[in-house]
Amino acid sequence: MSEAAWKTAITDVSGGQIRVRGYDIADLMEHLSFADAVYLILKGELPTNQQKRMMEAMLVSSLDHGPTPPSNLAARTVMSGGNPLNAAVAAGVMTIGDSHGGAIEQCARLLQEWAKKDGSPPDLARQLVAELKEKGKRMPGYGHRLHKRDPRTVKLLEIAERIGYRGRIIELAVAVQEELEASSGKDLPLNVDGAIAAIISEMGFDWRLGKGFFIISRVPGLVAHVHEEWTREKPMRRLGPPEYQYDGPGPREIG
Ligand SMILES: CC(C)(COP(=O)(O)OP(=O)(O)OC[C@H]1O[C@@H](n2cnc3c(N)ncnc32)[C@H](O)[C@@H]1OP(=O)(O)O)[C@@H](O)C(=O)NCCC(=O)NCCS
Repeated sequence: MSEAAWKTAITDVSGGQIRVRGYDIADLMEHLSFADAVYLILKGELPTNQQKRMMEAMLVSSLDHGPTPPSNLAARTVMSGGNPLNAAVAAGVMTIGDSHGGAIEQCARLLQEWAKKDGSPPDLARQLVAELKEKGKRMPGYGHRLHKRDPRTVKLLEIAERIGYRGRIIELAVAVQEELEASSGKDLPLNVDGAIAAIISEMGFDWRLGKGFFIISRVPGLVAHVHEEWTREKPMRRLGPPEYQYDGPGPREIG
């Protein structure tokens, strides 16, 4: 038999049967929460009780952050232009990048790389922050435009501690916050992206799944905002002063 062009180890489907990672979908529907099922499909195995609790908390943490982040502004604006819900939600997802939600990916990559090195978390944090400073780069997963301490981070770390999930990578993430703040004199808290990055790294997830965690958590929020825009607001959102200001050249003539 010739080798199939497309191979997958995720789901096996045949007439009347669906098996995700080997488990019958009906059994999964009977026994798993949504967060458990997300763990299964991303990791390939069923979660332990400890992993279940962490997954639930992470997926709830980034559900929504009000109408102001880029993803919500984009989603509501696209809906307001007269487009369908799927286009509006996709526009919101498109904004998820290094500054918004997407910081999980690069933060997890750095934490995973650095936690493997020799040295205590505070020593490694000092070296990492110094290296980023030298390169003129920001540490992804730190800083927040609103929160001096991100309440989602505080809760995620509290749960991680309570259920015995605080290991070397979380220690490193906390040490990086202390080092960033001490060396800059600014509030640069571990934000929710950074906290999720540390926790998924502690759980052994590949850093390349980082943005996926934020998307899975935020899409229900985007759907709610798009639906609200659709059913409650007039079409065609627009900006007016003082939200924008023209600062280009004054009136001028051609020639
Ligand atoms: C989230 C973020 C955009 C908020 O920014 P902000 O509060 O508006 O802060 P600013 O961009 O005005 O930066 C203020 C100062 O803090 C520094 N700073 C901000 N975040 C930093 C970080 N993650 N690492 C190092 N320095 C940082 C800036 O360099 C700036 O320094 P300067 O005043 O000497 O120029 C910013 O902290 C950031 O880029 N973080 C990294 C990306 C990230 O984690 N995004 C997810 C957010 S939930």
